[in-house]
Amino acid sequence: MRTLTAVSRFHEPQHPDFQRLNSSIAFDRRLWPQDVAQSRAHVKMLADRGIIAVGDRDALLAGLDDVEAELREQRFPFAVGDEDIHMAIERRLTEIAGPVGGRLHAARSRNDQVVTDLAMYTRERCVAAQEAIAALMAALLARAQEHVDWPMPGYTHLQRAQPVYLGHHLLAYFWMLARDRSRFAFAESECRRLPLGAGALAGVNFDTDRRQVASELGFSDVVANSIDAVSGRDFVLDFLSAAATCATHLSRLGSELVLWSSAEFGFCELPDAWSSGSSIMPQKKNPDAAELLRAKAPRVVGHLSALHGVMHALPLTYNKDLQEDKEHLFDTVDTLDLELAAATGMIAGVRFDRARLSEAAADEMIAATDIADLLVRLDVPFREAHGIVAGLVRTALDAGQTLSQLTREQLAAHSQVLADHEGEYRSALEQASWLESKVSEGGTSLARVREQLDLARAELEVGTGS
Ligand code: ARG
Repeated sequence: MRTLTAVSRFHEPQHPDFQRLNSSIAFDRRLWPQDVAQSRAHVKMLADRGIIAVGDRDALLAGLDDVEAELREQRFPFAVGDEDIHMAIERRLTEIAGPVGGRLHAARSRNDQVVTDLAMYTRERCVAAQEAIAALMAALLARAQEHVDWPMPGYTHLQRAQPVYLGHHLLAYFWMLARDRSRFAFAESECRRLPLGAGALAGVNFDTDRRQVASELGFSDVVANSIDAVSGRDFVLDFLSAAATCATHLSRLGSELVLWSSAEFGFCELPDAWSSGSSIMPQKKNPDAAELLRAKAPRVVGHLSALHGVMHALPLTYNKDLQEDKEHLFDTVDTLDLELAAATGMIAGVRFDRARLSEAAADEMIAATDIADLLVRLDVPFREAHGIVAGLVRTALDAGQTLSQLTREQLAAHSQVLADHEGEYRSALEQASWLESKVSEGGTSLARVREQLDLARAELEVGTGS
């Protein structure tokens, strides 16, 4: 559709391919609840300011009720020429209410209209994202509590490095998500200034009351500059940025679940509800949901990057380029919703194998750092201690032995101090001591993990949302 009025400045009709290129109705129809709410608030304000008659206001509000019902009940008759949801709603309103429908768009432009819908939509999605993240945080916290004292190997370079408690490892994800939730709270606060009232770009020729519209629509302020109001989409960038970081976190969780549920690790079994079978190998249980968590992150990051591409170097104010904000936002919303649901479902239902985890964390070589630290406590400089233990490890490996099989004489060959403290050497090689020796704040000793659980409970209760 070119215009909602009968008269036009154009001689030729639009090329059908141009219409397909230019139209956004296929994807922006999801903005209808915001568009209807916005129009109601706008119409009320117009009447309160004497810009339209009270009778016209009532006719417009009644018409908007009908339009809303049609949209909600999915019987809204979209027309071939509807370019976007804003024009579709105004067209239908005019069909239902008659010529008074033409009064709706006084003191408004699609430029301030579209960005207002988008700010309302993005604000709602910021709230929903914070709630979905909180649900995942709660699931992680519950599982961390249950597995607070289950030893497992901690890794660097995907090589067994130092043992940790499973509760400690799960809490690492809790804190990543807590920060994600804060990022969405920030994005939400960036959606709280009303763009409407900016008109096409310069303001409108009526003394409107933007603050009335703002408070009716749940905004806490108005965008101060009309040029900025119709040009800006940085609240969408803030949402996408929060989503990109969150999806990246979820990809690391997905990746670990894929590894852990393999026969090679055997650390866990994923819930059936979030796993697939194989079409040819009946014995298989595939971690598809975890794999997709791993793979979706670049898609979300791509949307963020694409919108930066749309915005960069874009002259002020509105340009049709800005229509390209929506699919990046909507696909991100849908992707992240599913990702958070999948992550929460998997974490809530995953079953861990205590024996496998503990066995994998029982490799004595893991205690190498603890032996070095024992030497430090016996007044050996750390670098020297590191060398002594490297020598012990080499001796043991060459002889096909474990560190605890080394004799006092073998110890003495590397360090007399160590041989003199053989008892302490032997107890440092016990699994429980490797874990319980990590007493620093934020470390894996049980007391510290319990302390962290308290902090996590407090974080979850307080929340950072609105
Ligand atoms: N569908 C358009 C968009 O999404 C609405 C705004 C159109 N404004 C205009 N001046 N053509 O950006």
